[in-house]
Amino acid sequence: MIKIAILGYGTIGSGVVEVLNTNKESIAKRAGDEIEVKYILDLRDFPGDPMEDKVIHDYDVIAQDPEIQVVVEAMGGVEPAYTFVKRALLAGKNVTTSNKALVAKHGAELIAIAREQSINFLFEASVGGGIPIIRPLNSSLTADEIEEITGILNGTTNYILSKMTFEGLEFGDVLKDAQSRGYAEADPTADVEGYDACRKIAILTSLVCGQQVDFEDIYTEGITKITADDIKYAKAMGMVIKLLATSRKTEEGYCAMVAPFMLSQQHPLYSVNDVFNAIFVHGNVLGDAMFYGSGAGKLPTASAVVADIVDIAKHLHKNILISWSSGKMDLVDKGKAKSRFFVRTAKGQEEVKAVFRDAEFVEVPGVRGETGFLTGEMSEEAFTEKAAALEDIRQRIRVV
Ligand code: HSE
Repeated sequence: MIKIAILGYGTIGSGVVEVLNTNKESIAKRAGDEIEVKYILDLRDFPGDPMEDKVIHDYDVIAQDPEIQVVVEAMGGVEPAYTFVKRALLAGKNVTTSNKALVAKHGAELIAIAREQSINFLFEASVGGGIPIIRPLNSSLTADEIEEITGILNGTTNYILSKMTFEGLEFGDVLKDAQSRGYAEADPTADVEGYDACRKIAILTSLVCGQQVDFEDIYTEGITKITADDIKYAKAMGMVIKLLATSRKTEEGYCAMVAPFMLSQQHPLYSVNDVFNAIFVHGNVLGDAMFYGSGAGKLPTASAVVADIVDIAKHLHKNILISWSSGKMDLVDKGKAKSRFFVRTAKGQEEVKAVFRDAEFVEVPGVRGETGFLTGEMSEEAFTEKAAALEDIRQRIRVV
């Protein structure tokens, strides 16, 4: 019997209990032993809940119980999750977490402690919810140099942009609708400003390069300034707008960014809609691979957490090597990144041509008093210079 403690009985914590109950027998077979929840740590009580008698309020009970072999961190946020997880690892307890904020900030240190202790710190659910991506990067794609990871890593913003595209609605109206349906948080800032996707691409880039990529170094732009008119232009060009989190290996180093992009139909992420997530990976020998599925939600995320528990059970007292050292990886200056740009300006076509010689103009029925155009490929710094010369830019969206 493997006894576990769950920290936090919210959406993910209760999902873990549900998954362990639903697939009890097959999970025991795969893990080679039965998994039993001994404690659930939460500030609240849960009268009437079948797990009521497992709920405790004092973390010391878990940290000091030698029977607990696995701690499941499902609290979210950096503190007190970091303190609890570090203490569990130092006490020789394996940990799995769904907490991207914790992994992005302290992943390297927690991985190192687990290695010293010959135990495991696993975090499959921290990126892409139920989609396997951490384990494939760490175990399956190890023959490759990963040259690109580009993902739709946030379900809330993908739902909002999909609804704006299919129904022609404005951002604010879709956000209100998403909140009323429980798809978006009451405070949606982390999702709509791209901070959530930023932490996830920081984790993926750290795994790919084997060093610490600080999420603070990643240029991040959200979707709050995307309008129904932008979507009309995208449609006129046969494109869609998606919030991409992307990381590329260039000759100068790794270049990472989170921003809304216009995607043509040929792009592998073009058809990823609603709350779904997908991650495109390009390896130098593999070529292209895509991982697609439920990137958020109670049971998909809990499925990934329980899969970590099974992996831990299969590797008791044996560390699964994760190559992610605390040495900081400096990212390439964003100004060097290249793409095409879609631009809307109050200036006329002649004025545009005087600055952007290779501009391709785009017309949308019903949108008047402005000029929409696509630039040729150029660096971010070259674009910034030209945009300043043109003046009066209403919108600019990168194009891939
Ligand atoms: N708020 C996140 C999303 C949840 O919308 O994708 C999963 O990290």
